[in-house]
Amino acid sequence: MMRNARTSMVLVTAAAVLSLTVSVTRAAVPETSLLYRLQSHDALSLPAQVGRKMFFDPALSGSGKLACSSCHDPDHAYAPANGLAVQAGGKHMSERGTRAVPSLRYKEFMPAYADILDNPDGISPPGPGGGFTQDGRAPSLAEQAKIPLLAANEMANASPAAVVAAIEKSDYAGLFKQAFGEEIFADRGAAFEKAAQALQSFQLEDYSFHPYSSKYDLALGHKIGGQFTEAELRGLAVFSDPAKGNCYACHYSGPGLNGSVGIFTDYSYEAIGVPRNMDIPANRDPKYYDLGICERPDHQPQTGNRYCGMFKTPTLRNVATRKAFFHNGKFKTLREVIEFYNTRDTSPERWYPQVHGKVQKFDDLPAEYRANLDTQGPLDGRKRGNKPAMTGQDIDDLIAFLNTLTDDYVPEQAQAQVSPAAGRAVPVHQ
Ligand code: HEC
Ligand code: HEC
Repeated sequence: MMRNARTSMVLVTAAAVLSLTVSVTRAAVPETSLLYRLQSHDALSLPAQVGRKMFFDPALSGSGKLACSSCHDPDHAYAPANGLAVQAGGKHMSERGTRAVPSLRYKEFMPAYADILDNPDGISPPGPGGGFTQDGRAPSLAEQAKIPLLAANEMANASPAAVVAAIEKSDYAGLFKQAFGEEIFADRGAAFEKAAQALQSFQLEDYSFHPYSSKYDLALGHKIGGQFTEAELRGLAVFSDPAKGNCYACHYSGPGLNGSVGIFTDYSYEAIGVPRNMDIPANRDPKYYDLGICERPDHQPQTGNRYCGMFKTPTLRNVATRKAFFHNGKFKTLREVIEFYNTRDTSPERWYPQVHGKVQKFDDLPAEYRANLDTQGPLDGRKRGNKPAMTGQDIDDLIAFLNTLTDDYVPEQAQAQVSPAAGRAVPVHQ
């Protein structure tokens, strides 16, 4: 829906944006930030307006310090601004999470989790797919929102009623009643459900969650500024070559579910054997493993469980802006991630610890679940010391291509049209 609305890209100066938004209070938000532009959106439904208020409200946490936006920063594609593997939270901000924080962009087409979900490419065999969080445990954005609000190591509210009480005290309590009825606060349970739906509406409706404003999108639409460089074109070929990156096999970019295109995930789950990250406090307990799908209440770990160790394939849109990668935030650069894909099997000593000279390959997946590891290239189990699938040049090119998936791209041609006095160009989509 958002996609079709984006028929053209008009450039206006910062001054013109200002004149459009004079009536909006802007506090201390810098003009260059996405948050600044977020505040000037008036076309949201009432529930989505409530959701926007809630999303940025630290009063909705037990510590009074944590909003959704603290971990999902709109200026970082709704991922964290920092490079920590896991974020701080809890009543006294002294707890840590167990997983890296995903971006919240491009989640609007996600189906609910199923063990056997049709692959959106229409060709691959069905398998585990869909759902929110990296083990798919929440079937909708509304159900997902309840998790951080109540988790003791995140926003740490004592109960749903505590969340509702905080909303009732907020300056948007009136808006909440306008959206959900004058009597809504009388029923704490119903009000909590509405609050979760409000967060969902904000994420579904607001442009900033699905801007489709990358160079890749311009290229797809044959728009000015969308001409790939030689390196980007070669990178796309590496991405799509089954004998090289083979990235497209899981980070699928064709027509997908519910009318989507170019989401760069098929929502499927795979175990790829990411090394254990000792920066996660929970991992200091040698008996603790994050088993992905097997952390779901309906998939207990047991020997022979075919799903243990599998995590959801994330979108690669805006991936170049991330500062911590994979479910455990083990890697800090895109290059490291790609080199891991390329040499996990040919040079495992680069990635896993050694004990008495023996490489502890797959040190974050108990031996009984290693049969679940995916075997698609480049993670196809080629022998140690063999040639990796990609050359150094391939990797440079692939990175160049992945950089075209970053939103808020302003083409050089367009930049040139902005008068130097006006400063910055702001893309506006109409
Ligand atoms: C303390 C940091 C933190 C806060 C605060 C936080 N989140 Fe998250 N969020 C995470 C982490 C970590 C995950 C991944 C969880 C997992 O995979 O189990 C996540 C996952 C999500 C997802 C699922 C994305 C996907 O790819 O499936 C959504 C949606 C989301 N959060 C929305 C919210 C909303 C709405 C709020 C506020 C009510 C919020 N988050 C507050 C850390 C946070
Ligand atoms: C077999 C399916 C598969 C293939 C092939 C594949 N990926 Fe992935 N990718 C995944 C899964 C699953 C994850 C999440 C794994 C985890 O967190 O444990 C992931 C995660 C990532 C991440 C981390 C993103 C984030 O938000 O943390 C990047 C970057 C990435 N893949 C890039 C690539 C590139 C580049 C290629 C091609 C060289 C590729 N992938 C090939 C399935 C695949």
